[in-house]
Amino acid sequence: MKKKILVTGGCGYIGSHTVVSLIENGFEVLIVDDLSNSNAFILDNIKKITGVKPTFINCDLKNFDHTENVIRYNKDVDAVIHFAAHKAVGESVNKPLKYYRNNLFSLVNMLLAQQDYGINNFIFSSSATVYGNPKTLPITEENEIQRPFSSYGNTKKIAEEILEDYVNSNPDFSAISLRYFNPIGAHESGLIGELPQGIPNNLLPYITQTAVGKREQLLVYGDNYPTPDGTPIRDYIHVVDLADAHVKALNRLLNKDSDAPYETFNLGTGNGYSVMEIIKMFEKVSQKKLNYQITDRRDGDVPVLFASTALAEKKLKWTAQLGLEDMIKSSWNWEENLKQS
Ligand code: NAD
Ligand code: WQD
Repeated sequence: MKKKILVTGGCGYIGSHTVVSLIENGFEVLIVDDLSNSNAFILDNIKKITGVKPTFINCDLKNFDHTENVIRYNKDVDAVIHFAAHKAVGESVNKPLKYYRNNLFSLVNMLLAQQDYGINNFIFSSSATVYGNPKTLPITEENEIQRPFSSYGNTKKIAEEILEDYVNSNPDFSAISLRYFNPIGAHESGLIGELPQGIPNNLLPYITQTAVGKREQLLVYGDNYPTPDGTPIRDYIHVVDLADAHVKALNRLLNKDSDAPYETFNLGTGNGYSVMEIIKMFEKVSQKKLNYQITDRRDGDVPVLFASTALAEKKLKWTAQLGLEDMIKSSWNWEENLKQS
């Protein structure tokens, strides 16, 4: 019997890549998504990649009754991987309640529904944003958690606290929070990738959209940081590697290998690249000159973030396999495919 995994937000960027990895690793997948930041054509593209079209339920997880109904009719789910959330950092600063409602109600509703039906394995999409501006590098899971700059970021910090409290109250329940650094890249098929609605917040989609002519110019937010070239450094991680880490974390839960009922892992490569290094690599890979201009710093940006990957290596037996060139090549391939479709 295949294990059945409920993936919330499974039509989204990281969710869709994880669904592909789950199917390729022999899991049955049920996607629950309200398509607020994704498109149902992704389901057909998952089928083109894997040969399997996952079952899909269109449901807004902010609504408890709807969430509980999903679980009532799928009591045989073995674990939930919870990606569903809004993620636009800038918007969250202007509309904090939209973010607290969506990201936290969805989480609590799902946990309540799982509690009602005894579904006791949970993986949560957290973020390196919970480390704020770290005092020491590389960032280990022991680094101090700080209140993130944005309301979006704060939903991740609060969500982790909710999970920890809930795990402590329910001896049958186990959870893993995965703290992603900067996910970029796309599946090698060019059939799934990041689909930002409106103006992208993140660097890579902004670069590729500028290069295809959807945007006029990339603004580089500051070149006076204390880094070798003055632009901020981040730990970019290929979304396909990230997807693989979810399968490893899932097996850890299902096999009851966890050392504690609630665990957290950093997911990054351990390597930091500056904004200018990303631009140079993009120009090399695409053979295109990028139109960019240096401007003022963006509020809330920290100078340097990169992960210690030691814990994920040791406990999940996972390390990122794909390098920066692969990440940027696949992002560019995805953008070019979107242009043609
Ligand atoms: P995404 O927007 O592409 O995917 C999220 C999916 O959740 C979308 O398909 C959206 O339609 C769905 N969704 C949102 N609210 C919902 C609701 N109330 N009910 C049902 N579905 C809902 O985002 P992503 O980049 O794939 O991110 C996935 C998760 O990883 C999110 O929790 C995000 O906060 C987290 N994360 C992302 C990054 C990143 O840079 N992409 C970094 C760290 C953490
Ligand atoms: C990377 C670098 C910018 C856009 C965010 C969230 C974090 C996580 C990942 C979800 C920074 C610079 C960017 C642009 C630029 N998401 N930049 N011009 O800020 O590290 O992290 O996404 O959890 O929570 O905060 O990623 O891609 O926005 O920026 O110069 O148009 O690129 O200043 O140095 P960030 P990013």
